[in-house]
Amino acid sequence: MSSAIWVSRRALLRVGGTIAIGTAWPFGSTLKAAPDTIEKRFTAGPGRVALAGADYPETAVWCYNGKVPGPEIRLRQGQRVRVVVENRLSEDTTIHWHGLRVPNAMDGAPYVTQPPIQPGRSFTYEFTVPDAGTYWYHPHAHSAEQVGRGLMGAFIVEEREPLPVDRDVVWVLGDFRLKQDASIAGGFDNPMEMSMAGRIGNTVTINGSVPDRFKVRSGERIRLRLISAAPARIYGLEFRGHRPLVVSFDGQPLEPHAPEGGRVVLGPAMRVDLVVDMNGKPGSTAPVIDSFYEGLAYKLVDIAYTNETPVRTSALSAPAQLPRNTMPEPDLANADRHDVTLTGGMMSGMGMGGGMGGMMGGGSMWAINGVAVMHDDMRHMKPILTLMRGKSYILAIDNRTAWYHPIHLHGHSFRVITRNGKPTRYREWRDTVLMPPRERAEIAFVADNPGDWMFHCHILDHQEGGMMSVIRIA
Ligand code: C2O
Ligand code: CU
Repeated sequence: MSSAIWVSRRALLRVGGTIAIGTAWPFGSTLKAAPDTIEKRFTAGPGRVALAGADYPETAVWCYNGKVPGPEIRLRQGQRVRVVVENRLSEDTTIHWHGLRVPNAMDGAPYVTQPPIQPGRSFTYEFTVPDAGTYWYHPHAHSAEQVGRGLMGAFIVEEREPLPVDRDVVWVLGDFRLKQDASIAGGFDNPMEMSMAGRIGNTVTINGSVPDRFKVRSGERIRLRLISAAPARIYGLEFRGHRPLVVSFDGQPLEPHAPEGGRVVLGPAMRVDLVVDMNGKPGSTAPVIDSFYEGLAYKLVDIAYTNETPVRTSALSAPAQLPRNTMPEPDLANADRHDVTLTGGMMSGMGMGGGMGGMMGGGSMWAINGVAVMHDDMRHMKPILTLMRGKSYILAIDNRTAWYHPIHLHGHSFRVITRNGKPTRYREWRDTVLMPPRERAEIAFVADNPGDWMFHCHILDHQEGGMMSVIRIA
């Protein structure tokens, strides 16, 4: 077994104060037609949930409104949402709306866009959602532990014309490190793990509990929205016996296509929307296998067909492409180019292999363009780049480390235009790009959302271990 993941194989197999009001949306006026506002009250605090399933004691967690994942937010493109967040944790928190292009003041970045919400205080987030798609929310203070203990939730924005499917299903994929009594293991912010793959758990959950079976009816077409809320684990899902089609990455539509290599890969914070035709026979089952880490494959869940007669007998035609969202197209011919270099971590060995190596000076383990911010402490952060509002940019990201990094930019979606110097096939829009060890990628976007935006690795131990920076759009 690979040394960096020390979780037992058996465990894997077992799884089977301040009030601010949102500012007006700065772009265009076309979305102002839907005046209705959805209102939510969230309480972040301790709770108890059956993460490991009915055979185990309940797990003490940190969560929103007593649930893991927190309440799903679901609204229609162009609607407005107001979320009053009360902090009943014993430490500061915020909520970040991952992937949503919100005004800067609503982004939930502590010290950068708002003071952190102190224990006993609340904060009101309010914004209009410009784009349809699958997003999520999570705290952005002491992130590794707060997400690692259960603070996360789905944020779904429906298209004005939804995709014709029989069912729209959301899977929030969690990953927890549990002890034998199903309590969450301590030891967050372990420097050794921080400098390697991050804290990978031993208990993978779907919508807050270890899944057993996913019940489907023969013949139905399902839109399956996968959201990785894992702090560090990377998933590579194989839907045995099925032919899922990828219809969007990180909420952004692209040409429907079969997953590369037959596997749906999700790094931390990434989302993939699939359209799956349930073409199995009534009463049959088929497994979903996570085979991302070599030698550590496990069954995530069984797709279990009911005995009902099939919904339909002849297959539907291929799903139509979803309508594109509202991001402006970057002007590549006139884009300014900047290099972004990722460094640090244990240096010898590749991928999941361990090995000893030097850590960087100054107490940080990771850096972006030589800059490192430890433990989400953004108080003294200077931007690594200042971009001009409205201009197109290409960031050439170079992963000089031996580890995977899902790199996330707040407030924007970007196109991934090249990988290792070669044009990408789909030029997909994303908000988080998974960078394999020693690889390069170019991303392009229009810097159209003014403010200071976090730009960081979404393996939360790397984020807290220095792989965190800010990009200013002035
Ligand atoms: Cu999911 Cu900095 O965010
Ligand atoms: Cu990383």
